[in-house]
Amino acid sequence: MVRRRRDGAAAGPAGATVTRVHGVTSLRVNGTVHEVPTLPDRTLLRILRSELGLTGTKYGCGEGECGACTVLVRGAAALACRLTLGEVAGAEITTIEGLRGASGLTAVQRAFAEIGAYQCGYCTPGMVLRATAFLRERPEPTRAEIAGALNGNLCRCCGYGRILDAVERAAVRARENGEPL
Ligand code: FES
Repeated sequence: MVRRRRDGAAAGPAGATVTRVHGVTSLRVNGTVHEVPTLPDRTLLRILRSELGLTGTKYGCGEGECGACTVLVRGAAALACRLTLGEVAGAEITTIEGLRGASGLTAVQRAFAEIGAYQCGYCTPGMVLRATAFLRERPEPTRAEIAGALNGNLCRCCGYGRILDAVERAAVRARENGEPL
């Protein structure tokens, strides 16, 4: 006999979970359309990492507190651990693997690399995407505004000074040299 769980999945006689999939859902990530199993409650973070192999999006807290899983959804920064497939189906999603500048790196990525705005690098993809979305909206920010924009993205090792330096440098380059963000 198959028992129903509250989340819609079913449990077999020995308690083993049996996941029922009804078709596939199209998900547009970094300009490519992927078909993933239609499990509306599955998180975007899990789909990106486990099903699409896009491991640049990091799992930190899984609760919307650290910013490590930041991606762009319709161009806005969003937390992949807090979004379900049902919420993002049909939206254009950009992960760190999808950011491209003229020379391979965007202005934000290049500034982070030049300044060494990282140590272990775990928070860096989320920081870069958050900063990218912010600078596209606010090309001439103050340092305090940058700090405010990155407030939800935590770094445990390099400190925030060099990260703010990198975002300031990227803003100047994008404005004055036209480097893509
Ligand atoms: Fe999503 Fe921490 S893993 S906010």
